[in-house]
Amino acid sequence: MVRVIAGIDEIREAVRAIRASGKRVGLVPTMGALHRAHAALIERCRAESDFVVVSVFVNPSQFGPHEDYARYPRTPESDNELCTAAGADAVFAPDTVSMYPRGSATTVVDVPGLSSVLEGASRPSHFSGVATVVLKLFSIIGPDVAYFGEKDFQQLLVIRRMVADLNVPVEVRSVATVRESDGLALSSRNRYLDASQRLAAAVLSRALRLARRLVDDGQVDAERLRQTLRQTIESEAGVGLDYAEVADAETLVPLERLDPKRRAVALVAARVGRARLIDNVVLMD
Ligand code: PAJ
Repeated sequence: MVRVIAGIDEIREAVRAIRASGKRVGLVPTMGALHRAHAALIERCRAESDFVVVSVFVNPSQFGPHEDYARYPRTPESDNELCTAAGADAVFAPDTVSMYPRGSATTVVDVPGLSSVLEGASRPSHFSGVATVVLKLFSIIGPDVAYFGEKDFQQLLVIRRMVADLNVPVEVRSVATVRESDGLALSSRNRYLDASQRLAAAVLSRALRLARRLVDDGQVDAERLRQTLRQTIESEAGVGLDYAEVADAETLVPLERLDPKRRAVALVAARVGRARLIDNVVLMD
C-alpha cells in the first residue's frame, strides 16, 4: 500500500531524502474522488519520475460560497487503492487547518487575462484559489515535474503562466483528456448525475466533436462554430449552457476567424442537474 502522509514536515522530509539521492520527484495534484483519468496522470508521472507524490486535498479556497465544497465526494480508502495500483510512492493528504492555519492565506490573485474569463467569470475567486494551493503544494513538495489534465484547459494555462511569471522551478506537463465511451470527459462531479442526466451530459463532447469536424472540413468562422456549439448543447433538455467559446489556445482571447498558424480551442461549460461540467477540444493545432 502507498505511504499516506498528512504532515507538511513529514512530506518535506520524505522528499528531501529522495532528492538528496539524486532522484527525480513528480507530483500529481488532485482533490481526491480519484478515477481513471487521475490514474492516467499518476501512471504518466510514474513512467517519467523516480518518486511519485499524489496530493489529495479538497481545497476550500477554490470553491465559491454557493458551490459544492461541503458535498464534494471524499473517498480516501479507494483513493489510496487507486494510487497504489497506479504506482504512486506517497499520498500527501493534509488537513485543512495545516494548509490554512490562519484561516485564509496570502493569495496568488491575478494571472493577467486568464483568471477572470470563462470559468473565472462564472467563478470569480476560483483560479486565485487554484493558483494559491498549487503554489503551496509546489513549495511544500518541491517537485521536479508536475502533471495536470487538459480537461481543465484554463487551469492548465493559469498554472503554466503562474510558474513562468513567478519563476517556480518546476516543469509542468499536461495529459490528454480521458473520456467515457460516449465521449463524456471523466470528472469527479459526474457522480452527481442520475442516469438520464448522465446520458444528456454527453452532449458537451458531441458538440465539441462536431465543431472539430467542421474545422477539419474548412470552417474558419469562429462565430459560426460558437453558434453550432450553442445550438447543439441547448437542444438537449436538462442541460443549461453557461458558455461556449472559441478562443486562442494560449491567451483564451475569443477569435473571429481561425488561423492555421495559431492554436485554437473550443471550451464549453454547462449545468446538468446538480453538476457543473466543463469540456474542451483543440480545434487547430
Ligand atoms: P481534480 O479535479 O481532482 O483534478 C486533478 C487533476 O486531474 C487535474 O489536473 C485535472 O485536470 C485532471 N483531470 C480530471 N479529470 C480529467 C480527465 N477526464 N482527463 C484528464 N485529466 C483529468 O483540478 C483539480 O483537482 C484542482 O483544481 C487542483 C489542481 C488539484 C488544485 O486544487
